[in-house]
Amino acid sequence: MSFRMLLSIVLTLMVARLTLSLDNGLARLPPMGFQAWVRFRWRTDCDLDPKNCLSEALIRTMADLVVEKGFKDVGYEYVNIDDCWMATERDPSGKLIADPIRFPNGMKSLADYVHSKGLKIGIYESMGYQTCQGFPGTFEHIDDDAKTFAEWGIDFVKMDTCHTPRGQLVSEGFKNFSRALNSTGRPIVFSCEWPHVGPHPDWDTMFNYCNTIRNGRDVQDSWDAVTSIIENFAKNQVIFKNVSGPGRYNDPDQLIIGDYALSYEQSKTQMALWAIMAAQLLMSNDLRDLPAWAEDILKNKEIIAVDQDPLGIMGQRIVNETRMQVWTKPLANGSFAAVFFCPFHGIPYDYTTTPRKLGFHTGTIYKIRELFEHKDLGTFQTDDSVTVTVNPYGSVMIRADPVMSSHKPGTHFKINPL
Ligand SMILES: *[C@@H]1O[C@H](CO)[C@@H](O)[C@H](O)[C@H]1NC(C)=O
Ligand SMILES: *[C@@H]1O[C@H](CO)[C@@H](O)[C@H](O)[C@H]1NC(C)=O
Ligand SMILES: *[C@@H]1O[C@H](CO)[C@@H](O)[C@H](O)[C@H]1NC(C)=O
Ligand SMILES: *[C@@H]1O[C@H](CO)[C@@H](O)[C@H](O)[C@H]1NC(C)=O
Repeated sequence: MSFRMLLSIVLTLMVARLTLSLDNGLARLPPMGFQAWVRFRWRTDCDLDPKNCLSEALIRTMADLVVEKGFKDVGYEYVNIDDCWMATERDPSGKLIADPIRFPNGMKSLADYVHSKGLKIGIYESMGYQTCQGFPGTFEHIDDDAKTFAEWGIDFVKMDTCHTPRGQLVSEGFKNFSRALNSTGRPIVFSCEWPHVGPHPDWDTMFNYCNTIRNGRDVQDSWDAVTSIIENFAKNQVIFKNVSGPGRYNDPDQLIIGDYALSYEQSKTQMALWAIMAAQLLMSNDLRDLPAWAEDILKNKEIIAVDQDPLGIMGQRIVNETRMQVWTKPLANGSFAAVFFCPFHGIPYDYTTTPRKLGFHTGTIYKIRELFEHKDLGTFQTDDSVTVTVNPYGSVMIRADPVMSSHKPGTHFKINPL
């Protein structure tokens, strides 16, 4: 092949690549924040439940706590309202309005408040005639609604697809809304949720018009929901990996750490796997009432750093045994992360591997550290054995950084010994 041919192929590939991303300068790293849905849902009766109803007061409180409890310091930035924020009808001019009882000062004022805390604010709509909970949808109002959100100072839009005429209209709707957001001139993260039933995602549209992509079922406050999302991502990892990179990330849905369902070990697993997948990290929990251990997991800076690695690569599952899954992810500067997840009941299980088996660069010496225990485990050569002990339903997460120093024999380490 001539040099000219090669050059033209390379240039063509570069151009093709350049067109494959929503160019709004946002989501260079996976977005992080709070999302109201899983924890607060359709609670709209403030007389019955003033403390938990979806309201201006609740969102202000959550914004306060994101700052006061140190979540902002570790990267949580967006405070996102989900479905049920609207009045049941548009105003006479066709404009969306927030429910006047629950949001008495309106969305602009709430956005100003969230911004005054140094945070960003997100909102929710659906592509259809109605949202999933029956509030006004954006169908045939796309340009106006994008403009309204921009006027209010919204920074993030989660777009659902309930009540959409199926098929082409979903793709067309995402495209139109993305263009409409762009023409407001306000940088707004566009988070798209592909319908979990119906046709396979239209990847071309999602790639070109969305910052984050949901293509699985909603998470529920349940361990089964978390494990089925993990399995869905593993099963489709070759395709989903393609989504991930600066400007565009996968969305396996909200973190439910600190809610009712997950144990301590299960919570570690959700955090570790969402991070290794470079997922958008939106926690949905009651920040007024989080157990200290849940807060620790959610604020684990070393794990967040894996999620927020600048390469933005989605980790892949390389081992799927009954009692152990192994996931690995290349990080910037030749580093790697790995998660050892035990999906099985019983007692803590040992798992022995080597840097070679984990797919780390051979011939390189790695300094390995465990990220839940914040513990250095020594330096390891390609074929040194590494043994981890993982509690049932829990995860051990390591980070391996290449070192230049001369090799000290790797210690065989055990984490969480019985
Ligand atoms: C709109 O799109 C153009 C071209 O893709 C991009 O340069 C610009 O930053 C976008 N603006 C916003 C506000 O998203
Ligand atoms: C998208 O925009 C085009 C051009 O304005 C319009 O013809 C089409 O009906 C829109 N589709 C949807 C689903 O909004
Ligand atoms: C990854 O995305 C590119 C660009 O859209 C596409 O050509 C390629 O087939 C995709 N690969 C997989 C495995 O989906
Ligand atoms: C992974 O292993 C589990 C348990 O053995 C099994 O149910 C599942 O089908 C496997 N997944 C894939 C993608 O092979």
